[in-house]
Amino acid sequence: MILNKISYMSQNAINLMNADSCILDASCVLKELIENSIDAGASKITIKIEKEGLQLIQIVDNGKGMSPQDMLLSIEKHTSSKNDEKDELEKSESLGFRGLALQQICNLGQTEITSRQKNRSRGFYLRLTDGKYEPVKECYSEIGTKIIIRNLFYNSPSHKKNSKSGRQELTKILKIINQYAIGYPFIGFKTSIDGKKDFIFEKESKETINPLLSRIKKIHSKKISEDLIYYNGVKGETTFNLFYSNKKNLFKAEKNQSYYINNRPFFNEKVQKILNKIYSDTFSTSRYPAFFLFISLPNSEINYRLDPSKFNIHFHNEKETLEKLTSFLDEAFHDNQKINKNDEKKEIILNGSFVNFHKNFILEQTNSGISITNTEKNKKIEISIESLTKLFE
Ligand SMILES: Nc1ncnc2c1ncn2[C@@H]1O[C@H](COP(=O)(O)OP(=O)(O)OP(=O)(O)O)[C@@H](O)[C@H]1O
Ligand SMILES: [Mg+2]
Repeated sequence: MILNKISYMSQNAINLMNADSCILDASCVLKELIENSIDAGASKITIKIEKEGLQLIQIVDNGKGMSPQDMLLSIEKHTSSKNDEKDELEKSESLGFRGLALQQICNLGQTEITSRQKNRSRGFYLRLTDGKYEPVKECYSEIGTKIIIRNLFYNSPSHKKNSKSGRQELTKILKIINQYAIGYPFIGFKTSIDGKKDFIFEKESKETINPLLSRIKKIHSKKISEDLIYYNGVKGETTFNLFYSNKKNLFKAEKNQSYYINNRPFFNEKVQKILNKIYSDTFSTSRYPAFFLFISLPNSEINYRLDPSKFNIHFHNEKETLEKLTSFLDEAFHDNQKINKNDEKKEIILNGSFVNFHKNFILEQTNSGISITNTEKNKKIEISIESLTKLFE
């Protein structure tokens, strides 16, 4: 989304938030910076991490950039460009809405921000140490924003203590990158760890039949991604897209399960419980499948405010939303059982077989032919292979 100018948020909007501190460890810093790049409309994000983020976190995007005035405002508390209706934060379509992250990050490390807007031939550079900044300087820059954080938590022993042992922190950092790379397949992500390991996910082409599946396959091991079963459904204003592993690829724990709401990675314990319960009841197993669940619903239905990390979300109409989810999962798993019983091969046909070919339509392969869903009218028509064959006679 392309954003307006940065301004101070209203006191009313600030009062609505439950967020004083949003940075717990290095992975939180990276998460916030990635979200800002996505909100700035970037199609390419390049990340450098050194010493689990404690020595260096660098992020470069090709988004809309900031003016020198906005750069100075961005590092103030409760300044944001992302709230049109400042008292209705939950309607915000952007990943950020509190005007908090950058200000906190700048106080926890030595920060450099370079940014250039599309309409300018030069960029601007801002450097901060101990919360104090030097005057903004004009400089060479590509279009977009580059943020460098060095010596993260050098001035905060409590944050340093929070950071897990090196390996664990790196695992968290990579998980964050993978989650956003899956939620946003049309953004290219390049990551370099300690100048040694590179992870490159080029942006998915618009022609890719199933960009989500294609991204998942690039990121996850074969055991997780090879035979994923795809199912989608529309319940009122809520759309569900689910990829889940078949009975041959189950795991001891729930760790290969991720959830996205309007592309944003999220967690909700009730959603997780429902998914695993319906799966284990339907397929009579005590092991856990890999899941990638994508939910799309109006932002006004979601409450991000209760959690400072914006990761744990609540639904305003929880009962209704969870009922829709339950009904969708019943259909998804029971259809799959039918397929399993009738023809093992058809399960594979379902893989990677949907395309959003128009903003209002989803074209999808089914086990008997194709279906077209009109997401605006919440209607689905199915055309069998026999009818399709007849059309060509
Ligand atoms: N990479 C970027 N490109 C362009 N503008 C940016 C970028 N990063 C930050 N900004 C600007 O700086 C402002 C402040 O960023 P910050 O992350 O602190 O707050 P936010 O994203 O509005 O809310 P939140 O605290 O929930 O993340 C943003 O609203 C945005 O206008
Ligand atoms: Mg932000």
